[in-house]
Amino acid sequence: MRQKEVMILTGAGQIGMAIARRMGAGKTIIVGDKKPENAQAVAKILNEAGYDALPMEMDLSDRKSILSLLEKAQERGPMTMLVNAAGVSPSQAPIETILKVDLYGTAVLLEEVGKIIASGGVGVTISSQSGHRMAQLTPEQDELLACTPPEELLALEILQPENIRDTLHAYQLAKRCNEKRVMAEAVKWGARGARINSISPGIIVTPLAIDEFNGPRGDFYKNMFANCPAGRPGTADEVANVAELLMGEKGAFITGADFLIDGGATASYFYGPLKPEV
Ligand SMILES: NC(=O)c1ccc[n+]([C@@H]2O[C@H](COP(=O)([O-])OP(=O)(O)OC[C@H]3O[C@@H](n4cnc5c(N)ncnc54)[C@H](O)[C@@H]3O)[C@@H](O)[C@H]2O)c1
Repeated sequence: MRQKEVMILTGAGQIGMAIARRMGAGKTIIVGDKKPENAQAVAKILNEAGYDALPMEMDLSDRKSILSLLEKAQERGPMTMLVNAAGVSPSQAPIETILKVDLYGTAVLLEEVGKIIASGGVGVTISSQSGHRMAQLTPEQDELLACTPPEELLALEILQPENIRDTLHAYQLAKRCNEKRVMAEAVKWGARGARINSISPGIIVTPLAIDEFNGPRGDFYKNMFANCPAGRPGTADEVANVAELLMGEKGAFITGADFLIDGGATASYFYGPLKPEV
């Protein structure tokens, strides 16, 4: 019997599940999450909706765990899709964890999947509008974030504790790094006939965003969506709309790119009512 194509979903959260539902029909969906109960819950919803999902415990911050997930996935069939939607937010974790999961883990995952993704394969990783609000880095810093081998990334000077103000700054650096890694990886994925992009959502109502609403920056985030051009937060299904374009035939010419979907919050932050007072 012909093996089915495999989609890897890391992060059994709302955004990941929405993209899996949009793109995962007919595939084996390997659902990896650090919290096994999250992986199981999402796999159950998917399986009860006609998908073929298999939950697995995995930790994005651990190379061994990533490799074991990929090994199990490969036993199932050719890997044609990656959706990386695992992550922790500034109110959920300390600086060190944010860097280890969101920055280092994503770099390892993109590198390792890039070695085995099938020709014609496609991936998305979820970055964040938060990275777009951070000031530009120097071209040298950008290149270091893009190209430093994953095992050396966390030793970069800009990622040392004395150079990171708080968990939000760590998150922004991690998400900026995601965008740069995607650019560098797109070159390697392209050599295999595969594509990789990132999506930078603004405020999307999910458990992660709800933790932010209830955290120390709650008022900041509530003000952000109230005063962005869209005047509301977004939904995971709207992020899946972008993923559908990037991962489908119509996205064939899109790779190494980052797509901002934030209801205009970044625009307002730079040139509108959300602009911070100096
Ligand atoms: N929701 C938003 O407003 C928003 C905005 C911008 C970016 N994002 C990004 O979107 C991605 C998905 O978040 P979401 O909003 O769907 O949140 P979510 O809370 O619904 O899902 C996140 C999932 O990641 C899992 N996870 C956390 N650490 C992990 C690890 N080390 N290994 C494996 N899994 C781990 C969590 O257990 C959770 O199931 C994250 O990278 C987040 O930074 C979210």
